[in-house]
Amino acid sequence: METTATAFSRRATLQPDRSLSSLRSKQCIRKAPNFNFYASVPIWGDDAESIVFAQAFGKGRTIVFRFSLDSNDGDVLPPCSPQASFPDRPSMRAALWSAVASVWHECSELPDAGDPDTVVDIFSYGSWKIYHETLFNNYVDLLLPLDEFSVQHPIEAIGFKRAWYDAISLGGRGCTTLVHHASDPGHKLVFKGIDFRTFLDTYESGHAQEEVMIFKRSTELASNMPRHPNILLPPRTFVTVSRPAANTPVVCGSLYPFYPNGSLAGKIEESNAAGKRIPLLLKAKWCHQMAAALAHTHFVARTYHMDVKPGNFILDEDSNLVLIDWEQFDASVTTAAPEIDGTWDAEEVQVQAADGTSSKALRYTKYQGPERRNMPDTTPGDNGWNQEDCPKASKLDEVFSLGRSMWMLLRQCDKDGFEGIENTEDIVEDWTSSDDIPSDWKEAVEGCLKRDPNDRTSLQDIYDFLEAAFEAFE
Ligand SMILES: Nc1ncnc2c1ncn2[C@@H]1O[C@H](COP(=O)(O)OP(=O)(O)O)[C@@H](O)[C@H]1O
Ligand SMILES: [Mg+2]
Repeated sequence: METTATAFSRRATLQPDRSLSSLRSKQCIRKAPNFNFYASVPIWGDDAESIVFAQAFGKGRTIVFRFSLDSNDGDVLPPCSPQASFPDRPSMRAALWSAVASVWHECSELPDAGDPDTVVDIFSYGSWKIYHETLFNNYVDLLLPLDEFSVQHPIEAIGFKRAWYDAISLGGRGCTTLVHHASDPGHKLVFKGIDFRTFLDTYESGHAQEEVMIFKRSTELASNMPRHPNILLPPRTFVTVSRPAANTPVVCGSLYPFYPNGSLAGKIEESNAAGKRIPLLLKAKWCHQMAAALAHTHFVARTYHMDVKPGNFILDEDSNLVLIDWEQFDASVTTAAPEIDGTWDAEEVQVQAADGTSSKALRYTKYQGPERRNMPDTTPGDNGWNQEDCPKASKLDEVFSLGRSMWMLLRQCDKDGFEGIENTEDIVEDWTSSDDIPSDWKEAVEGCLKRDPNDRTSLQDIYDFLEAAFEAFE
């Protein structure tokens, strides 16, 4: 069996990738029947559809497989576009996983298969070659050394090992992955960062560099923020990689404790699937805790989150909410405030009422300049949080997201109901099947959802309301 170092020159000539999602499968973890491996968020490819990657794990190994049209003899990827040649995506995925299964047993036994830079080329069923992907060096060059992270408390560093890396994606847009300590497989942790798979998926578009900066910023923010019970504790461990045969570690991610009780979004889905209403006391507690996390973020830490939504609150062992995902880089379309569409500038100004009294208000100015140029369509963060220098505006943006999150929880909205939503204003906040929700709670939510930020309830007022509402229950 051949193990060679192969320069992969063809990749460099590929079109910049803009919609790898065309080949990406749904996020899921599946054990393929009779195969000794699992697949999680496992298939991605290039726009030209001439290369497809698939990632699988099992037997303590996570392996990236590559299929290229020009080296494939046609029995895995048909000779023309996979999209055109397979009747549908499930058939394409089935063909790829069968091809992986035909080589998995042999190649997962090889010692090299555990190296962080290895990729296995599959030529046809049962025919493969393992190689050390030279792009791994580009990946390492992009990452930052430990001393470039400005963190207040000491963080230990451990080397990345595919052996403990199960590659079970926990969902979300990025690389949030369940891992375990090599010495203690039962001790689960969460890896968040930029693994080699994420790099292979994003480097053509230039987003890999951006991901590194997002990771740095979120790690520093989480590490330097004053603690709060409803906010995720900072990471204690950095994960590092280095070039093969070199010993200059750079940071590719960090490890967080794993919270096995899932997210608030998951709890809503679970209750709906069981046809149950979540008890009001629990709803009151969770609304109060969401607001408490946000009040701390703005009033004590003097920063913002930007992506407040039920999927970014996870539950601790006592069913308390913990706000995660401190990337500050994008907002979800279903919870974003209407004014953060990237076209508005906000400032706080003095305004005079008709009776002559003067007060402060926010003034929003629509960008009126010439059409923007040189802006890639897929720049991350295209929901535009452009009000960083106006804390009052960012508080009110976040009050809107809090209002939407509370509405989703109180009404118990089904996630499926939001499929196809492209603009936050397309959502109509009704109270169907919500007779159990007190009317003053509904009014409080509606106060947070006012389209004009100047009419919206303030963060302090909604926090005070929710604290009183929760205390009244206890
Ligand atoms: N420490 C954790 N414990 C358990 N689940 C987690 C943890 N961190 C993240 N998750 C799960 O993974 C999902 C994605 O993580 P998140 O940090 O929100 O990444 P993304 O930036 O991709 O949204 C979350 O919605 C949550 O369900
Ligand atoms: Mg998230």
